[in-house]
Amino acid sequence: MMRTRPLKVALLGCGVVGSEVARIMTTHADDLAARIGAPLELAGVAVRRPSKVREGIDPALITTDATALVKRGDIDVVVEVIGGIEPARTLITTAFEHGASVVSANKALLAEDGATLFAAAEKHGKDLYYEAAVAGAIPLLRPLRESLAGDKVNRVLGIVNGTTNFILDRMDSSGAGYSEALDEATALGYAEADPTADVEGFDAAAKAAILAGIAFHTRVRLDDVHREGLTEVTSADIASARRMGCTVKLLAICERAADGKSVTARVHPAMIPLSHPLASVREAYNAVFVEAEAAGQLMFYGPGAGGAPTASAVLGDLVAVCRNRLGESTGPGESAYTRLPVSSMAEVVTRYHISLDVADKPGVLAQVATVFAEHDVSIDTVRQQGRLDSEGLGGEASLVVVTHRAPDAALSGTVEALRKLDTVRGVASIMRVEGE
Ligand code: NDP
Ligand code: HSE
Repeated sequence: MMRTRPLKVALLGCGVVGSEVARIMTTHADDLAARIGAPLELAGVAVRRPSKVREGIDPALITTDATALVKRGDIDVVVEVIGGIEPARTLITTAFEHGASVVSANKALLAEDGATLFAAAEKHGKDLYYEAAVAGAIPLLRPLRESLAGDKVNRVLGIVNGTTNFILDRMDSSGAGYSEALDEATALGYAEADPTADVEGFDAAAKAAILAGIAFHTRVRLDDVHREGLTEVTSADIASARRMGCTVKLLAICERAADGKSVTARVHPAMIPLSHPLASVREAYNAVFVEAEAAGQLMFYGPGAGGAPTASAVLGDLVAVCRNRLGESTGPGESAYTRLPVSSMAEVVTRYHISLDVADKPGVLAQVATVFAEHDVSIDTVRQQGRLDSEGLGGEASLVVVTHRAPDAALSGTVEALRKLDTVRGVASIMRVEGE
């Protein structure tokens, strides 16, 4: 039975994502109404620049007063696609206070202060859905939260930032420069308003915090996530990865400790073998592996950024939230009952690729190997290549060491000791090796 009175939607933000949400709401109005059981009405659109021409949107709906819009009292669902912490946080909590449910794509806010939003939603008996906040169009959060609710997730590993994957892919496949690739990603609508959030790993870290929280039923904040961006990745690292049969990806990795008593969450560039499925994730695509006790390994893959793909996830949430409203129910709220502590990076165990500039003379290799042994870091492979020094004379070599699995703290101690050796001229790069 179709209800004739429409459900009113307030759209906060009409940029890359918001404009596509509005477009799909209009072009698919009949299908959406049939799926929900009531038509949707776009009741207002809050923006910063009211004079900007917005195709397909009735200018009478445009407002710069987002607060007044969410306070109207007749709004059923607020779709927040402004981004950032404020005013988004206040607008969302105000929306709950005034009777609306909320759909948001705002990973920065959810990772920074999800607790405030979840508490406000619960207090007012409203929904907060945010599928679009992680991995764009890929249905990932709802499968994790609902389909895997009966299983025990132990690990989530993946590529969750489209912009950085696009940049690394361009640098690797076409030899494009970093800035050129970033400009292209920005023009395609993948990058955040401030692309520093992408390239410094903040965006992926926010997504890692959200994923870890849902996967392990605990609270993980942005500050709990170890974060390294891709600005330090050089073309030499990419070439070195190639020589090892690997490629470089910016990975988000969330793990439950072997004893089950803590979790870790980290984002950093890593080498992965070309044979690994993540190695073939190109352009702005995302892919996420979930390892669960009973289900085994699951892989989620698809467009991770961009207006239309992200709007698809927003619209999916909008339909779910509207159905809940018609049924006078709410979906699952936050589940953080395990209260597991988040361990530091020092406790993470993984493999490392270390590139050293050393003096090319007898005994150097033995000296270097001794430092690794003293820190209990086992060497897997060593590759040495002699080269000319700055004066065109011999006497220097590049030494690439790949280790077996070791704690991050042990690796840091090893590198610190290596730097003190007279024969080590410099540590050219350190990169983790994952996916084996
Ligand atoms: P844009 O910068 O393209 O759009 C932001 C919109 O918000 C604009 O319409 C802007 O108005 C409006 N706005 C900004 N500040 C205010 C304010 N104070 N009051 C009212 N309106 C305001 O961002 P995106 O669409 O790219 O991203 C939106 C959200 O979606 C972010 O949280 C982002 O992280 C998330 N997201 C984005 C993805 C993507 O691929 N782009 C993918 C997944 C999530 P105006 O148009 O006048 O400037
Ligand atoms: N800037 C983000 C990215 C948008 O590049 O992945 C999608 O969350």
